[in-house]
Amino acid sequence: MKGVILAGGTGTRLAPLTRVTNKHLLPVFDRPMIYYPLGCVRNLGIDEVVIVTGGDHLNTYKRLLGDGSEHGLRAIHYAVQDGAGGIAQALALAEPFVGKDDICVILGDNIIERNVRHAADAFREQGGGAKVILHEVPDPHRFGVARLEMNGSGHKIVDIIEKPKDPPSNYAVIGIYFYDSDVFDICRTLKPSHRGELEITDVNRAYLERGRLTYDFLDGWWADAGTPDALLRTGLRVSESGANKVD
Ligand code: DAU
Repeated sequence: MKGVILAGGTGTRLAPLTRVTNKHLLPVFDRPMIYYPLGCVRNLGIDEVVIVTGGDHLNTYKRLLGDGSEHGLRAIHYAVQDGAGGIAQALALAEPFVGKDDICVILGDNIIERNVRHAADAFREQGGGAKVILHEVPDPHRFGVARLEMNGSGHKIVDIIEKPKDPPSNYAVIGIYFYDSDVFDICRTLKPSHRGELEITDVNRAYLERGRLTYDFLDGWWADAGTPDALLRTGLRVSESGANKVD
């Protein structure tokens, strides 16, 4: 499995912090934000990573991360996203480096306390398709949200809605996803949403329609550090309890 870290976009919710630098280079406690998703993929035993980012910051990433060996990586590749056409547009740019491998995709501003090894192991066993990770939140309207229905003794996902005004549950779909290489064919079929972006939620819905989407729950805390408040609170959480713990 390869890792794909999406670090493009304009980070407008963090302006003016992001006027001259890329959001994922900002500090979260004692490290640049991008170190956390890198730690997350390393915790899965992945040693080859593609980072997708804007062309303005490519050289800064290369200076910061070098050949990746300091982070335990065998190879680190870069793809450039011009503009901010959406998470799925950024993901599509990783295709030349991924080939037919399965991937773990992580949004560069998502930070977790522990690890998602249980989900990665379950995805490896399911033989293709996709897996998303759910986490209960008090403010689901800010995220992609799962609609769940009873299915025997458990629940199944019947829909995922991006930033719903009237959330069907409190379960956010966090920014860590597992896909087989069909994801790139799916990306080619997407149409821009009302906000003009190719949405990762539409990718997940495509797998749901094929009956190939599973889910797991996250252990520990999760943060999307994409707003000033969240950035501050995430830094405090990391300082108190660390992040990307190996247990
Ligand atoms: O954090 C989880 C949420 O992330 C999910 O629940 C949502 O379904 C998903 O759409 C996403 O929502 P956000 O509104 O938080 O996404 P945002 O635009 O902040 O982008 C998150 C990361 O994705 C960003 O840090 C870098 C990457 N990205 C984003 C865009 C729009 C790119 O690489 N390129 C892009 O064009």
